[in-house]
Amino acid sequence: MKTSRYTGVAIGLHWLMALGLVSLFSLGLYMHDLPLSPDKLKLYSWHKWTGVSLFLLALVRLAWRVGHRPPTLPGDMARYEQILAHAAHHLLYLLMFAIPLSGWLMSSAKGFQTVWFGLLPLPDQLEKNKAVGDLLQTVHWSLNMLLAVVVIGHVAAALKHHFIVRDDVLKRMLPFLH
Ligand code: HEM
Ligand code: HEM
Repeated sequence: MKTSRYTGVAIGLHWLMALGLVSLFSLGLYMHDLPLSPDKLKLYSWHKWTGVSLFLLALVRLAWRVGHRPPTLPGDMARYEQILAHAAHHLLYLLMFAIPLSGWLMSSAKGFQTVWFGLLPLPDQLEKNKAVGDLLQTVHWSLNMLLAVVVIGHVAAALKHHFIVRDDVLKRMLPFLH
């Protein structure tokens, strides 16, 4: 069944954000396990200001989304599938904000200020407090694990649409293959 496409801007923002989140997720897991060294601290700084940049990109994406309705899902999709797809998309939007916010708050509570691109210091939102810092680290980690689970389901659904149901749900989010 043929439905209308996402706009070029929505497609560009979707894939830029997906690339950014997957890269930052991998960097987060990698850097966490490194022994303490100047290189580890440099990777932490990169992780932090790239994460702040993704938060700003999420704001741009949300603003675009509010002004542009996405194409409707194919009418032959079961009602529960449509609800699941919408719920997953809402949760993904929520995580695009909650993950960087939890990282920023964690850094404040641990006493490490975030300096965007190494140039612009962001105000610390919390007093230094080890217990709060450790709690927010657990929150940051848990939100990331939730992101991984939802993205795996999201990708599986996109592939099911393309290869099993054979509709155009994946194609309309791709910059090629129309
Ligand atoms: C959307 C963006 C982000 C993603 C996907 C992300 C992902 C991750 C992941 C997967 C980890 C490893 C967690 C662990 O092993 O405990 C991590 C750790 C960390 N993240 Fe993020 N993060 C993001 C944004 C941020 C931001 C904006 C900040 C701070 C301003 C930040 C600060 C940190 C810090 C300090 C750690 C290391 C915690 C530790 O020592 O274990 N993150 N991040
Ligand atoms: C971190 C990775 C990803 C995130 C956070 C993410 C997030 C999202 C969100 C929020 C939407 C809803 C867009 C809207 O209606 O405004 C969406 C749509 C979509 N995504 Fe992703 N996505 C990711 C990765 C992927 C990947 C790897 C694929 C392909 C295998 C994919 C395929 C799609 C498709 C086909 C749609 C359109 C669904 C529809 O037409 O309703 N996404 N994605």
